[in-house]
Amino acid sequence: MKSFSIDRRQFLFMSGIMGITLIAGEPETSIPKTQAEEKMTYNAKDYNRLIGMEGFSETLLKNHFTLYQGYVTNTNKVLEALGQMLKEGKVATPEYAEMKRRLGWEFNGMRLHEFYFENLGGKGSVSKTGKLYQKLVESFGSYEAWEKDFKATGAMRGIGWVVLYQDILSGKFINFWINEHDGGHPSGGMPILIMDVFEHAFMIDYGLKRADYIEAFFRNINWTETEKRLLLHKG
Ligand SMILES: [Fe+2]
Repeated sequence: MKSFSIDRRQFLFMSGIMGITLIAGEPETSIPKTQAEEKMTYNAKDYNRLIGMEGFSETLLKNHFTLYQGYVTNTNKVLEALGQMLKEGKVATPEYAEMKRRLGWEFNGMRLHEFYFENLGGKGSVSKTGKLYQKLVESFGSYEAWEKDFKATGAMRGIGWVVLYQDILSGKFINFWINEHDGGHPSGGMPILIMDVFEHAFMIDYGLKRADYIEAFFRNINWTETEKRLLLHKG
């Protein structure tokens, strides 16, 4: 795979939209391409703070972090390859089409894991005086009804994700089952709480006892982080 590169005109355009200041009269050979490339590269986040979380072994978490890092690496590779094909005028090709399809899998694999890890590591329960609790009650009738639906969705046969989405147009909360990273997500949906129910998320610690993993997940939800995702201007 060829490395991604940009010419001066592309860099000047991008530096404009990214707010980068160039030194006037700087020779073309000194354009900081690595800086530009860095700004377009996704970096894996460090979730080692989760190690020691009750109900999740270090082995399971480290395996999961490694898998997540693979999605970040591949997202960068796919974007780099697509950029190169665009530059070379090779967009009307099967390779371009397949790579475009692949982007949804790798990008969402990256982002969904970030939402997942970031909504873990908390203790306690949702604040009953907060907006999140209020929205759950509005959408499901009660917090208990939401939790029952979310857990039941996670207990379904099959592997995937459970996502509490907020519809950004109506403000309503809906629990979604997502089979694969790249399919089934609601248009205009803001992920509020995400639970990974692929087997790698629990089998090392729980075998087939997925319900026990779901209970452990609930004991470790970071409700503060989750509430930050709420779109307060709706509903
Ligand atoms: Fe996962």
